[in-house]
Amino acid sequence: MITCRGVAKTYVVRERAGLFRRGVRREIDALRGLDLEIARGAFVGLLGRNGAGKTTLLKIVATLLLPTAGEVEVDGIDALREPTKVRRKLGVVLAGERTLYWKLTAMENLLLFGGLQDLSRREARARAEELLELVGLSGFSDVSVEKFSSGMRRRLAIARALMHRPPILILDEPTTGLDPHGVEEVWEVLRSLREQGTTVLMATHNMLEAERLPTRLLIIEEGKLLADGTPQEITARSGAQRMAVLTLGSRPEVDEGLLVRELDDGSLSLAVPVDRLPAVLGQLQADGVHLANVEIVESGLWEAFLRLTGRPFDTNEEEP
Ligand SMILES: Nc1ncnc2c1ncn2[C@@H]1O[C@H](COP(=O)(O)OP(=O)(O)OP(=O)(O)O)[C@@H](O)[C@H]1O
Ligand SMILES: [Mg+2]
Repeated sequence: MITCRGVAKTYVVRERAGLFRRGVRREIDALRGLDLEIARGAFVGLLGRNGAGKTTLLKIVATLLLPTAGEVEVDGIDALREPTKVRRKLGVVLAGERTLYWKLTAMENLLLFGGLQDLSRREARARAEELLELVGLSGFSDVSVEKFSSGMRRRLAIARALMHRPPILILDEPTTGLDPHGVEEVWEVLRSLREQGTTVLMATHNMLEAERLPTRLLIIEEGKLLADGTPQEITARSGAQRMAVLTLGSRPEVDEGLLVRELDDGSLSLAVPVDRLPAVLGQLQADGVHLANVEIVESGLWEAFLRLTGRPFDTNEEEP
């Protein structure tokens, strides 16, 4: 459904060296030859540290940005040669993008976009009603978008992107900045799209989201594919374990391999793999170490991400 072959992107920037000097030319290799195959109906989560190249990749697939090298195919169509055809296959929701007209109502926004996509007025209205239902905004059809919460706007932006019934939806951080209720509401929309068989490619920094929605995860690092698999596979492959973080009143005698970290308030924290917790707790009690708190780090993927992208759990000493 989506194929990338050797996709590379180099941004050229000029950095001002001084007030009167000419800028220094600098190249940033955002993508370094990415090969990728995404099957029809897959729900793919794209992970990676800030600046890894996620948005660049999404924009290239969405035909909004030209790659420096490589080929992109969407549903068998060459995205570089026939971007207009490819755009009909895609719904795109970019981060922080203001594609909605705030003075218009939800329905007016959808009808306007339907018109741009060559839908007849009747078709557009029927589709808009269907989509408002899907994103849980049926009751807000005639309310202007400026009165919407961020979560409602985000859901309407998804509806807008789906007006022309694209088989593929591209999303860049769809839940960033939303409260947990807003996040759950967006997830509900994405889950029903997954069930309807829409192919989704979504960048996210939300590990809970990455664990729950996608059927496949891609981690990119410095413009290259670092890991590819189901959330469970990636977590297992990284050797990540669920961890318990203990907050202690005094320095414990612990085995090597367990790292003790001093917190800002002077207390100590100790990270322990959950399977070693009973033994460690027994030892602490025997040594009379005061245990102030125990926290289980819920997400295996959270730790897997930190491990795979080069920042091991509980060592922050080398950070600049
Ligand atoms: N228009 C641009 N001009 C110059 N450099 C850019 C441009 N857009 C992105 N970059 C650089 O390319 C690299 C990849 O950026 P990109 O936005 O794709 O990363 P990202 O994975 O989406 O990061 P984030 O998680 O912060 O959104 C970064 O080093 C970024 O600074
Ligand atoms: Mg980005």
